[in-house]
Amino acid sequence: MLVAQLSDTHLKAGDDGDPCWGSRENDLRACVADIMELEGPVDCVLHTGDIAQFGRQEDYTLVSDVVEPLASNFFPVPGNRDHRSGLASKFLGSRMPRQQPFIIYAVDEFPVRLIGFDTLSAETMMGDLDEPRLAALDEILAVEGSKPTALFMHHPPFDVPGAEGCYKFQYDRPEAVDAFWQVLGRHPNVVRLFCGHAHRLTETTVNGVVCSTMPSVATDKHVGELPNEAIGKTLYMLHRFDERSNTFESSLRIVQGEKPSVKLSVSNFPQDIRP
Ligand SMILES: [Fe+2]
Repeated sequence: MLVAQLSDTHLKAGDDGDPCWGSRENDLRACVADIMELEGPVDCVLHTGDIAQFGRQEDYTLVSDVVEPLASNFFPVPGNRDHRSGLASKFLGSRMPRQQPFIIYAVDEFPVRLIGFDTLSAETMMGDLDEPRLAALDEILAVEGSKPTALFMHHPPFDVPGAEGCYKFQYDRPEAVDAFWQVLGRHPNVVRLFCGHAHRLTETTVNGVVCSTMPSVATDKHVGELPNEAIGKTLYMLHRFDERSNTFESSLRIVQGEKPSVKLSVSNFPQDIRP
């Protein structure tokens, strides 16, 4: 099973003269075209949030147009720049059958169960996890208690390796993150967390769960150290699942460049990362 991860596209519809908007749209278009041309077909595409810069309906219409070739295999979660209901109505449809104030859903049709989880704070641009959301996570995880499961979410619920100051830990309340890990402690079948928000390439292990963040798809918003061949290039991630070991092998996909991808492991993830 092969999963592609996009994140932090920060798109905006309409031309206000700032060239960054067009370049971000081009970044996403290049990723989608590259995904469609991969030799080994991608089973699904996760987007870990900050899909649109201002979360307007016209922004999601633009994104929907760009990702149209991915058809029904595109699974987003909201970032702090997104608008929950705008995103859900455009992309999630029947995945979100109930009206609820947050987004949580499962993708059950693959060897790994995928859970999209909403980390938005009601108060700030940071993350937060209230009791209803954590109870919903506990409940949805209990539905398939033995199947290997990966969560994808915007704010990383851990200290981001290499990030400094306020960028290291991006939740309003540390106790909410503690409660999150208590929930995961009841579900040892969770094998992986895929996160966005940090705009940087990192991987770490928390309570035995491999957790990662990725560079923004928006090339102008990359943060931190990258392999030389990836600097300034359009990037996304590929995660290949090994059903024997229940682990993912991750690689950084370079859309334009002589070396198309860089295999990654914990040991060669850039750790000396500066904004
Ligand atoms: Fe972002």
